[in-house]
Amino acid sequence: LNGKVMVTGGAGYIGSHAVLALLDAGYQVVVIDNLVTGFDWAVDGRAAFVRIAVEDPGVRDVIRQHDVKAIMHFAGSVVVPESVSDPLKYYRNNTAATRTLIESAVAEGVPHFIFSSTAATYGTPERVPISENDPKVPINPYGMSKLMTEFMLRDVSAAHPMNHCCLRYFNVAGADPEGRSGQSTIGATHLIKIAVEAATGKRDSVGVFGTDFETRDGTGVRDYVHVSDLAEAHVAALKLLIDQPGESHVLNCGYGRGFSVLEVLDAVDRVTNRTIERKLQGRRPGDPGELVADNSAILKTIDWTPKRDDLEGIVRDALTWERKLAERQG
Ligand code: UFG
Repeated sequence: LNGKVMVTGGAGYIGSHAVLALLDAGYQVVVIDNLVTGFDWAVDGRAAFVRIAVEDPGVRDVIRQHDVKAIMHFAGSVVVPESVSDPLKYYRNNTAATRTLIESAVAEGVPHFIFSSTAATYGTPERVPISENDPKVPINPYGMSKLMTEFMLRDVSAAHPMNHCCLRYFNVAGADPEGRSGQSTIGATHLIKIAVEAATGKRDSVGVFGTDFETRDGTGVRDYVHVSDLAEAHVAALKLLIDQPGESHVLNCGYGRGFSVLEVLDAVDRVTNRTIERKLQGRRPGDPGELVADNSAILKTIDWTPKRDDLEGIVRDALTWERKLAERQG
């Protein structure tokens, strides 16, 4: 690539891992992040860093100054239940801010755009595994805010010399196996993060949200994907966008198998040799029972071989990072 990759939200959880994957693959990177939920220390020192919001008109200057030739857009709000109680935050941070970012990209002639989309765009699926063409009927504002951005990108790529790839993530978890980054989010709500916090004594128990879903043990089933595999998928998707300028893609990113909440907690117990206390509770608003990816499209479209499809390995990496964080925070 004849220029840099701009990573928005590069100081956040998934973005910081994408930065590592890009740098490891030899790309030059500039990170933009407003540091509302991210941390500047999470940005690898080999990347340039600009503290700015994606919707700031100054992003155009960053694009020009750093000769940005591709954007990977991770910045956004990600908590499903919060999106139910504060929908306008999601339409602002995920939809409206992204519209402005895309406008900056088009104005500066950035040719490639990769977008963090989500399995939440499907809502409650009619069947699992879910494939890309299945109905998109989000059941929470988070999923809708991301789906609206997918539509914007589709229309913009048809009208302007830009191609894009929307990666619909399933449940991202784990941490860089080399210990360079991990999930540092304050007040995290994600199951594996919560579970490793419990395992390191940061909380006393883990709530199990819903025991009456139509799943094998009644608890929610998700397709947990290692963050470093996901990061590598972004690098592979970028390569495809560069090689095939006229083509855009929407791809599920998961392993194609699911684990229930109780199975995840059992895995954490096996890794730590301890027993986390489970508190059985009612369902969380906006939660579907089962989300598992049909990943056949991504496997045949981009040059990506997942290497870390192992629940205990994901938990182990998350736990190693959690212990490091605990030391850092004293
Ligand atoms: N859960 C618990 N207890 C907790 C946290 C979660 O039982 O303390 C359950 C949830 O009810 C759900 C499962 O664990 O069944 C996973 O929940 P997460 O909060 O970890 O993740 P979500 O599935 O709600 O959402 C995540 C991302 C979204 C993404 C989605 C796609 O936050 O961005 O995965 O599958 F869209």
